[in-house]
Amino acid sequence: MHLISIDDLSVADIKALFQLSDGFLEVAARPIKKVPTLRGRTQVNMFFEPSTRTQASFEIAGKRLSADVINIKGSSSAVAKGESLKDTILTLESYRPDIIVIRHAQVGASRMATRYTKASVINAGDGTGEHPTQCLLDLYSLRRTYGALKGLKVAIVGDVVSSRVARSNIFGFRKMGIEVRLVGPPTLMPPGIECWDVPVHYDLEALRDVDVIYLLRMQLERVQGGLVAVPSLREYSRVWGLDPYRLQPGQRVMHPGPINRGVEMTGDLADCEQSLILHQVESGLAVRMAILYQALAPQLEEEAA
Ligand code: NCD
Repeated sequence: MHLISIDDLSVADIKALFQLSDGFLEVAARPIKKVPTLRGRTQVNMFFEPSTRTQASFEIAGKRLSADVINIKGSSSAVAKGESLKDTILTLESYRPDIIVIRHAQVGASRMATRYTKASVINAGDGTGEHPTQCLLDLYSLRRTYGALKGLKVAIVGDVVSSRVARSNIFGFRKMGIEVRLVGPPTLMPPGIECWDVPVHYDLEALRDVDVIYLLRMQLERVQGGLVAVPSLREYSRVWGLDPYRLQPGQRVMHPGPINRGVEMTGDLADCEQSLILHQVESGLAVRMAILYQALAPQLEEEAA
């Protein structure tokens, strides 16, 4: 079973993932944090773009499930010698992996990978396309914090145009009954945003009545030909950056990380009690264990029968 887009999952699939994640969260609290679930299975993590939490959590998740995990990094793999993604996948396919986790700068890279492997492919971020596992961990973090998801109000703020997290989260959050709005300067909204059927606001006033403010990183690495969407980072942070004084009592702040302290938020906001940033990271490990399990669940259940 592949996980390429958040739309691959139904509400029931997402709820089942939450239930599995509850179990894996409990495993993480034990002194010995390992279960034999994926013993003898091979998981290949292929990261062609930088990553800390996604890569580390998929690696730890696989290891805690007892899978054999190998990591391929773009910069140190044959890709740096000019090998195509197709050839890299075909080469690794000879080792018969069970799961391939892939992050790549090209939209659609993980979907393409499914054509050349029998492994379950998990999209760990494809360019500005999607980041379904981030959406799932964010949903799980919200569920742990609020109990119910339905009726929550979330504002996604900032660099929407470059953000695969925004794309997955808009669709995944709404699927679970969360009210989503986008907030930021018009130059950071994607062309054709009207078709997404999501309210867009160009003023921080729109944050006043939401439960959660979900800040996005300014993705300078995706900007070509110099920063033109905003006059300068200093100007962006002055107008759109959040600090604890701009928060309403009881509001929570989320961010997928890595945060740019002083750009989309001040350091004291990132570290304050209303910030869920590290809670998201903790949730990410349990959710990714659940995702790895679910990717192989049909096989595992068939073998157990
Ligand atoms: C996000 C990503 O890579 O898309 N980060 C992550 O996976 N934790 C968001 C970002 O880099 O801003």
